[in-house]
This record gives sequence, structure tokens and C-alpha cells, in this order.
Amino acid sequence: MLYARLIWRALNILAVFLGVFFGGLVLAEYIKLLESAAKSESHELLFPAMFNALKGYSETQFSIEEQLMDLYGYPQVRLHLASHKMFEIKMHQMGCDYESGVIGPSSIISFLKAWLVSHIEISDIELATYVNRCVEQKLARLVI
Ligand SMILES: [Fe+2]
Repeated sequence: MLYARLIWRALNILAVFLGVFFGGLVLAEYIKLLESAAKSESHELLFPAMFNALKGYSETQFSIEEQLMDLYGYPQVRLHLASHKMFEIKMHQMGCDYESGVIGPSSIISFLKAWLVSHIEISDIELATYVNRCVEQKLARLVI
């Protein structure tokens, strides 16, 4: 029983951190693809396609995080939501600026790299840590 409980807790903690880890990994892969697309001969087609795919991916990732925040009453919810909103606004603006030739791919890639460090590696890890603590507390109440 004790081993089962320990394994169950470890799996739950791992699941939340893996969610954040893979979220960061997917973004890192998108950044690499955007860098390749920007250098390719058909960058005018590839770069916007990758950029739009990334916007779709981030909407899904944000939705999952927002459901977790709601489910577990995350105290920093307003700050985290504001950060997601800022990302969406900035991505929209950069998409328009890219289309009109005001900015190039490097501006978008730089923004995404900064987001990876400032949001995913800090804010999302804080959220994952909080959710894990909540899950552990729920499991402790169930098992005792
Ligand atoms: Fe987030």
C-alpha cells in the first residue's frame, strides 16, 4: 500500500512537470522550425505557415493551463492570464508587422526565445509546482 501510494504520488507529480517540460520542448522545436523556415528559399510561404501553427499550438497549451488554474484555484491566476493575453496580443501584432514588412523573422524568433525563458521556465514551472502540491494534498486526504 505504501509503495502504491508513493508511486501514485510520483506519477502525478511527474505528469504535471512533463506537461510543462513538453510544452517548452514543443516551443523550442517550433523556434528551430521557424529559424529553418526563415532561411529557406520558400520562406515567404513556410515562415507564416509555421508562425500560424505555433499560434494554434499556444492557444491549446494556454487552454490546458487555464483549466488547471481554475480547477486548483491558482493564486497567481490573474498575473498568469495577463501574461498569456500579452503573448497573444504580441503574436497578433507581430504577425501583422511581419506581413506588412515592418519586422523580419528575427524579431519574432527573439521574442519567442525570451518567452521560453521568462514564461515557460519560470511562470509555468511555478504553476506546475502549485498544482503538484494541490494534487499531493488531495491524494494524502484520500489515502489516509
Ligand atoms: Fe503559462
